[in-house]
Amino acid sequence: MAHVHVILNQKGGVGKSTLAVNLAAVTADVLGGAPDAGQPPVVAVSIDPQGSAVWWSERVGDGLPFDFVQAHDDLAGLAALSRIPSAQHVFVDTPGWLDLAEDDGADPLGKGAAADALRAVLSNATDVIVPVEPEPLGFQPTQRTVERVVKPRGLPFRVVINNWDPRDGKADLEQTRAFVEGQGWPLARTVVRHYKLHTRASADGLVVTQYGANRVALQAREDFFRLALEVGLAAIPKPARKPRTKNAKNAKKKVTA
Ligand SMILES: Nc1ncnc2c1ncn2[C@@H]1O[C@H](COP(=O)(O)OP(=O)(O)OP(=O)(O)O)[C@@H](O)[C@H]1O
Ligand SMILES: [Mg+2]
Repeated sequence: MAHVHVILNQKGGVGKSTLAVNLAAVTADVLGGAPDAGQPPVVAVSIDPQGSAVWWSERVGDGLPFDFVQAHDDLAGLAALSRIPSAQHVFVDTPGWLDLAEDDGADPLGKGAAADALRAVLSNATDVIVPVEPEPLGFQPTQRTVERVVKPRGLPFRVVINNWDPRDGKADLEQTRAFVEGQGWPLARTVVRHYKLHTRASADGLVVTQYGANRVALQAREDFFRLALEVGLAAIPKPARKPRTKNAKNAKKKVTA
């Protein structure tokens, strides 16, 4: 079964596509298995009908180190993401959607194709990654996302601060951390910093593992490797359980005696 990581925040422009594509890239870099060799272990899926990720992946072209699928209208496929043969990790890029229904206890995602796609994906999710930018404007939509969409489904989640520019100082960063921790939400220690390279990457047709070898590029890349390490993306899959024979039981007893 593949792990399905959904990158979600009601707020637009917080880095959902950037995180989905680049977490897929670093995970694929570590796990190996180029898509053209068949059976790639990492798949990125976009359910954003107008998303930038598909355009981005097309610009990267043959060098894309993972499989990319645009699937906003494939509900059956979305509900079966964890069963993609060969995949170990699936990253789902979601749209920034504007309105959630009134808080009347009903499903806040409401009606429509985008809501159906999101429901299908969430029904299949292993966990949710919630990017936020270090600015108070994003707090309310993030709160609605976590409290009304993620938590009621009982999904494990983690908030990740993205696009922090160290040149802006630490005030906004600290305020954002305090907000997230004040809500009692798990916060990644890794902060994905702002780099011009990331902003240009989609137009340049690059994912983070394809950046150059200069200092800035290495720093930009480091944030994604750190984040992947922190959220355990390269965890060793559990070995298939062998049927226990009588002898195997005895052997185990001897070793532990
Ligand atoms: N860490 C970063 N450093 C520099 N630029 C960034 C960073 N993260 C995101 N960006 C830029 O910010 C913009 C918004 O990011 P992105 O498209 O990933 O957000 P999104 O949440 O997917 O947006 P939408 O809701 O519109 O789909 C893009 O131009 C992207 O290149
Ligand atoms: Mg996007």
